[in-house]
Amino acid sequence: MSQNPQSLWNASADAWMTRLEKGDINRTHLLDPIMLLRASDVTGKKVVDIGCGEGRFSRMLGQRGAFITGIDPTPAFIERAQSLDPAGRYIVSGGESLPLEDDEFDLTVCYVVLIDIEDYQSAIAEMVRVTRPGGRILIANLNPSYTATDEQWTYNKEKSQVDLPIANYFDARGVRVQWCGIDVINYHRPLRDYFAAFLSHPLRLTYFEEPRPSEELLEAHPSFITARTMPYFQIFEWVKSQP
Ligand SMILES: C[S@@+](CC[C@H](N)C(=O)[O-])C[C@H]1O[C@@H](n2cnc3c(N)ncnc32)[C@H](O)[C@@H]1O
Repeated sequence: MSQNPQSLWNASADAWMTRLEKGDINRTHLLDPIMLLRASDVTGKKVVDIGCGEGRFSRMLGQRGAFITGIDPTPAFIERAQSLDPAGRYIVSGGESLPLEDDEFDLTVCYVVLIDIEDYQSAIAEMVRVTRPGGRILIANLNPSYTATDEQWTYNKEKSQVDLPIANYFDARGVRVQWCGIDVINYHRPLRDYFAAFLSHPLRLTYFEEPRPSEELLEAHPSFITARTMPYFQIFEWVKSQP
């Protein structure tokens, strides 16, 4: 991939904040409810949000009583996150090498970020390192079944997804994605690659979900029609084993 992924994020930061500072409908209606439920009571807990962006989810956890550390390599996001949450600690850093102590956090969150990290194995190793034994790692990610699809989707007349061509599922690759002024690289990799990375650490999987809109949600927001048939996301929760 010729373009540097970080310079693409730097150039996309304004467009991202304009569009996503309050979250898109997938975040607010599909992911947040599960992520908050799994985070459970964070009062007084030390939480790190890896790839926090401009800090929307960090702030949600901070408002629920967590001590927040937000990490992101895009300086404009960290500046914005810090200005919106002066009580939080926000640091410019990639997830591959965290300027944080071992076993520092009760909860490590990574909200739709693993697809942005080329060296995901180092990022996962760092999440494990900074989480205390007995602490949890909560991940939302784009579903590899989705990132493996090519652009040639076929719709029926209701515009619901009917044909989902999965192209080269097993080939890990960076794919340039461009939408609404955002122009970044998403790294597709098969689910087995993620599992191989997580399972190389002392972790226990305690939750897994592929969120799907309910009929009621679909009725309220018809744009969820494709998400009834296409699994856009996955959510994992891992617990770090006690020594
Ligand atoms: C899709 S956005 C998600 C932001 C936020 N978590 C949210 O859900 O709104 C991906 C984020 O990953 C960050 N990012 C890119 N490369 C990264 C890396 N190597 N390590 C950690 N975060 C990275 C980007 O700056 C961006 O904020």
